[in-house]
Parts: sequence; structure tokens; C-alpha cells
Amino acid sequence: MHHRVLREPILKRNADIVYRSLIKPLLFSMDAERAHSFGEMAMRVPLVWSATSVMAHTSDPILRTEVAGIRLPNPLGMAAGFDKECRVIRPLLSMGFGFATAGTVTLGPRPGNPPPRIIRQPDRYAILNALGFPGPGLDVAEDRLARMRKAHDRMFISIAGTIEDEVIEVHRRLQQHGAAIELNISSPNTSGLRVFHEPGRLRGLIESLARQKTVPLFVKLQPWARNDGARREALRLAETAVSAGADGLVVANTHPIEHEGLSIVHRGGLSGAPLTDHTARMVAETKAAIGADGDVIACGGVFNAEDVWQMLSLGASAVQLYTAFIYEGPGLPGRINRRLIKLMRKAGITNIRDIQGKGPAPEL
Ligand SMILES: Cc1cc2nc3c(=O)[nH]c(=O)nc-3n(C[C@H](O)[C@H](O)[C@H](O)COP(=O)(O)O)c2cc1C
Repeated sequence: MHHRVLREPILKRNADIVYRSLIKPLLFSMDAERAHSFGEMAMRVPLVWSATSVMAHTSDPILRTEVAGIRLPNPLGMAAGFDKECRVIRPLLSMGFGFATAGTVTLGPRPGNPPPRIIRQPDRYAILNALGFPGPGLDVAEDRLARMRKAHDRMFISIAGTIEDEVIEVHRRLQQHGAAIELNISSPNTSGLRVFHEPGRLRGLIESLARQKTVPLFVKLQPWARNDGARREALRLAETAVSAGADGLVVANTHPIEHEGLSIVHRGGLSGAPLTDHTARMVAETKAAIGADGDVIACGGVFNAEDVWQMLSLGASAVQLYTAFIYEGPGLPGRINRRLIKLMRKAGITNIRDIQGKGPAPEL
């Protein structure tokens, strides 16, 4: 036993040093999409992800929680869009994520927008993207997801479409392969999705999905600003989704922005650190609007255990992140989870759910 205690921190520290001093500079010297493919390729090599799993060590029962009845080893998830190709869910889980989201999957294969479609802004820990849902389409995605049987109980599958029948078909075929379905009505790069921002259309769609659903259904909302019509509209959509049969909401997607370096559309979504405070506000507003009728998953600008604590204290049942993983690397889920345990111990909390309503994280 003492042998493990001695060895683990050294391994963890070394793996982190290797990532920060060698791998991250290499990845950041490449174009963002090439770096992503490279990282994905590396993650598919079993030896690589079993090595990174050494950094995870998140089996402490204190972190166990439940979201819409789904039992998870910890409340930290990978957000949609990282594994569009539906290939690296198992490596993500072994790196310490409690759950991971595959997709977004659409009915047909899509090339997305022409490059450049991803811009990194390291000075403010942000990413801009105008990908526009490149992906292999339902047939290929279903085949890959079906082969990941061991990951099904911790896998969310993000789906989208612009016509009801399309979404219903993707939902029907994919839900058997995951623990939950996340309906994306909010990517700023695919304007057709906005049809479901009309409450009547959203209600009709969710009611159809609810009739065939066998696993919990989440709706991923677009972000909204403080005190304006968009806020009222978004909260109305949140209430509509839940009353029509959704089990919860993901709050929220990327923030729409304009940037002339982005593809030919010059528009895209902002992710990362600039989102954190907005996400906290929107989580609190959504929880106030839907109460106990649905679970809220916080997404946007989560970088550390204190951010996780804040989102949970404001009423989220779990969190998702994407951009922080790009900047902080594969050791991040393990680091967040270990620090979350310390915060809970300091505050005398033994259950993740008891963080709700606790106020700011204690000082360590
Ligand atoms: C490159 C990139 C691609 C993304 N693709 C998707 C996607 O396909 N579907 C989706 O619902 N969200 C997608 N997102 C949004 C993320 O899931 C998340 O909502 C957003 O980035 C905010 O979280 P973060 O600040 O932790 O990155 C994408 C984000 C990035 C940066």
C-alpha cells in the first residue's frame, strides 16, 4: 500500500510536466484542427490513455452523484463537440471524467464550414469556433457508439437537426447506445436549429421525443444576456422543454460572436474563460425557473474545482467543460476532482448534492 502512495504523486507530477513542457507546446504550435486530430489519434492508442488514467484516480465515493437518475462517479463531464467523431469516449472516461458527451450527431454526414474554423485565444483562455457540425452522420456514428458498450452508462449523446422527423429518427436510433440524449438546439453556427427556439415548435418536438424516450433527455440552450428579452425567451424555452417531457437542461452553448478570421461566415461561437460568470448567472436563473422539475448541467467556462463548486452551489447537478481541457490537458479532470474532494472535506460535506446552496467554496 505505502508503495502506491509513494509512487502515484511522482507519476502524476511527471505526466503533468511531460504534458506542459512537451505535448502542449507541440499541439499549440499546430493549427487548431490539426492539433485536435493529433490529440484524438493519440487518445485512441490504448497505451496512451491508460498512461493518462494514472493521473485520474477519481474513484473516491464522496464524488458520486446522480443526474436525472443516472448514477455517475463524479459530476464532471466532457461537453459536446470534442468527440464529434464518436471515437474517444472511453479514453475520456478513463482520464477521470464522470461522463462524456459524444457528437453532436446529425442524420446525414456533414462537411461543416470551410476552414479556418477554430481560433485559439490563449491570452484569455478562450476558443472561437465556426465548425458548423462536421460529422460522420447517423449510420457511422451509430456503428461506432454501438461498439462502445462498456461506456454506455456514462455516455451522453448530443443530437441535432433542423426538421422534426430527422431529430426523431436520430434520437430513436441512438438512445439505446447511451445513458442520456442531449438535444442541441443552440449551436450558433447552424442557423436552421433556431426553428426550435419557437416555444410551440420546441414543445411539439420534445413531446414526440418524450413518447419514445427510454433514457433521460436534456435540451442544450443558447446563452442569454442579463435583463433583456433574450433572457425571457430562453427561460420560457427552458420551462417549455421541461414541461413537455425533458429531464433537464444544459446551460449553455457557445456565445455567438463575429470575427473576420472565422471561415467564410465570419461568425461563430465563443467558449472558455470569458463565459464563467455568465454560466453561473444562467444556472441560477434556470434553476429558479424550473425548480425541482428538471436537472441543470452547467456548461461554459468551467476551469477548476472552485468553478465546479460555484455551479453546483447555484443549483447545477453536474458540469461539462471543453475549452479548459484544451488549455490544461488530460490531467485536468483528475486535478479538479482531487481538489473538489478537499473543498468538500474542508466544508464538512460528504455528498455532492449538499454543495447546493452552500455559497462560495471554502478557502484551502
Ligand atoms: C471547437 C468546438 C466545437 C464544439 N462543438 C459543439 C457541438 O458539436 N455541439 C454542441 O452542443 N456544442 C459544441 N461546442 C460547445 C461546447 O460543448 C460548450 O458548450 C462550450 O464550448 C462552452 O463550454 P467551455 O467554455 O467549457 O468550452 C463546441 C465547442 C468548441 C470549442
